[in-house]
Amino acid sequence: MYDFRPDAELAKPELYRQLHDAAAALTDGEPDGIANMANVAALMWEYVPGLNWAGFYRMVDGGLVLGPFAGRPACIRIPFGSGVCGAAAASGETQLVEDVHAFPGHIACDAASRSELVVPVIRDGDVIAVIDLDSPHLARFDGEDAAGIEALAAMLATRI
Ligand code: SME
Repeated sequence: MYDFRPDAELAKPELYRQLHDAAAALTDGEPDGIANMANVAALMWEYVPGLNWAGFYRMVDGGLVLGPFAGRPACIRIPFGSGVCGAAAASGETQLVEDVHAFPGHIACDAASRSELVVPVIRDGDVIAVIDLDSPHLARFDGEDAAGIEALAAMLATRI
């Protein structure tokens, strides 16, 4: 049995350190990327408060395809460059969107989503996946969330 749980009331940097350590421990030595993404999606859901979706899209044949996640069923395929996820994949840069309704081309998978953080996972210079977090709260994510998920993405680059 795995019992990874965040301590209550943690400051964000410490919360993301604990999430990183739990994800590193859980994926250590496991070569199956799908299994690792599934467990990390579950950990993000457990550790990061205020989410309605947490998971992965993978780069497949030049487009994004839904990967393991927690939350409601979501759009399966996102064309390269479309939406917040596609923008992260195309630019190779984190997208921190305070109000998804103000983001041109935002793809609404869950109507409850109001803000979003998408971080590319880059291996050998190529975007291989993105990590997507959605929140029903406006401006839920800030630079500390972005830094925490970027560190997670860097660690996962050789594990998914
Ligand atoms: N909102 C994303 C689509 C994925 S869902 O949020 C899970 C986008 O605009 O790319």
